[in-house]
Amino acid sequence: MQEPHNPYDMPEHADDVYVQKIQVNLAYPVYFTRHVFDLDNPVLANAIALTPPQTRVLVYVDSGVAQCSPDLLSDITRYTEQYAPRIALVRRPCIIAGGERAKNSWHKARDIVETIGDHQLDRHSTVIAVGGGAVLDTVGFAVSLVHRGLRLIRIPTTVLAQNDAGIGVKTGINAQGTKNFLGTFAAPFAVINDPAFLTTLDEPHWRGGIAEAFKVALIKDADFFDFLCTHARHLRDRDMDAMVQLIRRCAQIHLDHIRSGGDPFETGNTRPLDFGHWSAHRLETLSDFTIGHGQAVAIGIALDACYASRTGHLGPNGLERLLAGLSAVGLPTWSAYLDQRNVEGRLDILDGIEQFREHIGGPLCITLPHSIGKSCEVHDLDPVIIESCIQYLKDRWENDADREQQAPHVLP
Ligand SMILES: NC(=O)c1ccc[n+]([C@@H]2O[C@H](COP(=O)([O-])OP(=O)(O)OC[C@H]3O[C@@H](n4cnc5c(N)ncnc54)[C@H](O)[C@@H]3O)[C@@H](O)[C@H]2O)c1
Ligand SMILES: [Zn+2]
Repeated sequence: MQEPHNPYDMPEHADDVYVQKIQVNLAYPVYFTRHVFDLDNPVLANAIALTPPQTRVLVYVDSGVAQCSPDLLSDITRYTEQYAPRIALVRRPCIIAGGERAKNSWHKARDIVETIGDHQLDRHSTVIAVGGGAVLDTVGFAVSLVHRGLRLIRIPTTVLAQNDAGIGVKTGINAQGTKNFLGTFAAPFAVINDPAFLTTLDEPHWRGGIAEAFKVALIKDADFFDFLCTHARHLRDRDMDAMVQLIRRCAQIHLDHIRSGGDPFETGNTRPLDFGHWSAHRLETLSDFTIGHGQAVAIGIALDACYASRTGHLGPNGLERLLAGLSAVGLPTWSAYLDQRNVEGRLDILDGIEQFREHIGGPLCITLPHSIGKSCEVHDLDPVIIESCIQYLKDRWENDADREQQAPHVLP
């Protein structure tokens, strides 16, 4: 068999080759502030980086956030009026239906594209998205398409959006029965994390983002893992100081990984931050999104940590600490979708492995914890071991004394 060519070498029959190399420096701030729309809070106005003589601004607000904060839309309008005429709000803030329905079809993204077009925003205009990860993903997707990308300021309003979904470089909507089948890599212009939004979250969405913190802690930061286990009850009981610490550390680890992991736009096939996600994404679609992303990630990392323990990568103590931590925080480690089977008797969840591989591309590569705070990659998952892990999680869940403390992991 012929050795593959280095694509930069001059191949036979080519008359010439010009090797184009571009280095792009991307930078964006992730601010932490409280009460972002207070008139005396300049963080957002500064983030807009006004383009003289005027910056045109369009705002999208997650319906769940608007419902819980009835003054929010008028606060936003008043805030922008304070900076008029340098900031011009092109229309009153638009409400976009929150949750997975925001990204479950083309419709919302297309509406946003059309609204941007109707108001003739240009590449120096700013779109501000206030909401959970689903709304940020959809608005980000639409904004990245128009004129090949307008400025987007994200104001994440859930724990998961503040520590993960809202701070990275990805957008996406679901299609073809697959999570994030369509999407773009598009860095935001700025991100503003404001913990004041978190006070109105329901229990599942307060707790859901904690799963992403356990995810990164287990594979990247043993001290952070200790912090999460120690503060699990405080976190469940809505201790805001503990939550702010969690969000900051988790956001920092995600940002560090995107910046220095060597593959910000995920062209390779290693995806450490997607530890636990092959089954999490499958659980979300199998349950028709009644299991939220955070809850699905809790189950997904429990399953893969169990697998890591069975295959000698993670000690039994590490697994038990993870399961106890998730449980104490009020996150699920089991769902009946895990042992649901198709007509041929095969576990439905296993289809998630090939879907995950296809989404990333290349040979299968799954990140597993390798002792607490470290990770390793495997290129094969044994269905027999997965099945025994599912049985273990089921038995443990049924006998878990903390179970009555769990918020329902099926969303309202
Ligand atoms: N782009 C990325 O890199 C990335 C990373 C991780 C997750 N995600 C995506 O993020 C999504 C999950 O995001 P999520 O967990 O933030 O949930 P979500 O966006 O689905 O929102 C959850 C619910 O909470 C409501 N809500 C949002 N903020 C609120 C607030 N402050 N008060 C009251 N209600 C509020 C919403 O209306 C919605 O009903 C998934 O689609 C997931 O795929 C994207
Ligand atoms: Zn996730």
